[in-house]
Amino acid sequence: MITLGIETSCDETSVAVLENESRIIVNLIATQIEAHQIFGGVVPEIASRKHLEMLNPLLETARLDAGLEWREIDLIAVTAAPGLVGSLLVGVAAAKALSFAHRIPCQPVNHLEGHIASNFLAQPDLEFPMLCLVVSGGHSELVLMRGFNQFERLGRTRDDAIGEAYDKVARALNLPMPGGPNLEKLAAQGDPYGFDFTVTHLADGFDFSYSGLKTAASQAKMKHPEKTADIAASFQRAAVSQLRGQVQKAIEKYKPATLGLCGGVAANSAVRAQMEAAANESGISFVVPPKVLCTDNAAMIAAAGYFRFRDLPTEQQKFDLSVLNFETKSLLPIGEIVS
Ligand code: KG4
Ligand code: ZN
Repeated sequence: MITLGIETSCDETSVAVLENESRIIVNLIATQIEAHQIFGGVVPEIASRKHLEMLNPLLETARLDAGLEWREIDLIAVTAAPGLVGSLLVGVAAAKALSFAHRIPCQPVNHLEGHIASNFLAQPDLEFPMLCLVVSGGHSELVLMRGFNQFERLGRTRDDAIGEAYDKVARALNLPMPGGPNLEKLAAQGDPYGFDFTVTHLADGFDFSYSGLKTAASQAKMKHPEKTADIAASFQRAAVSQLRGQVQKAIEKYKPATLGLCGGVAANSAVRAQMEAAANESGISFVVPPKVLCTDNAAMIAAAGYFRFRDLPTEQQKFDLSVLNFETKSLLPIGEIVS
């Protein structure tokens, strides 16, 4: 089965071709970072215009690189939510048009399910129950999967997502975009205990909170403008310790067989090392995708779409114009991952 994946939820335009659940044939990613850099953050209107420019050439290149005719594509999977509305619209409109023109079923995909699916691209035979830590620019979520397409959210951020906190602190430290990776680089030169930043202690449940830490780091920069490396290192130490604490608590309570890490911030070496240590300490398996599959890409969207489509009843799988209205039950409401 061949799935064409389309991702345009934020500032990466991406098109992928996936064979079955995990063989990536093509995964093209066009980043828009240069267009947003001078503004210090993603400008939604610019993002949608860039998607509009890039999507058609990427679709054609991906199909030609894969050596496929349209009739050989069995499914189109597209990010439908959450994300920047104008950006999502570009991908969804293209997916609907292709679906209609070539009579290919179209599966809407929740972006967070896409990030989670990247773990299965890295290792297709993962054992359930699986605890997934999704850490991106828009979300910090702890999700328990008891099987394919079964998602139970255990915790989420109460304010900023961890990637957002990285980006905002990076901006306070006058680092260029992309904030997260640049802050990580600077942190490597600093003392993680130079500042005794702490994270809000959330004793009950599995939520996260980063806005207090973000503010503390930004204020430290005003008081000690020369100590940027120590601020970066201390911020990272505190931010990652909250992830580790909540994940460890969830492992103890739910006793999963596997811990999966995904989302853009999963490209961070400190986050990867701490999560691997948490899994090892509890004697459970650990999976994290290669860095290119942690940040936004269409291969993970294709995989998530494939899993959803595979579980649909056969009559729903048949091409039906109703899919153009996205009336499939599988589309989760914006921001919701629930069982
Ligand atoms: O998943 P993603 O590509 O887009 C969203 O769905 O949001 O995640 C992007 C986020 C940004 O906040 C970026 O700064 C962060 O992931 N990020 C990192 C690193 N690489 C990307 N944060 C910390 N360290 C990194 N190495
Ligand atoms: Zn993402």
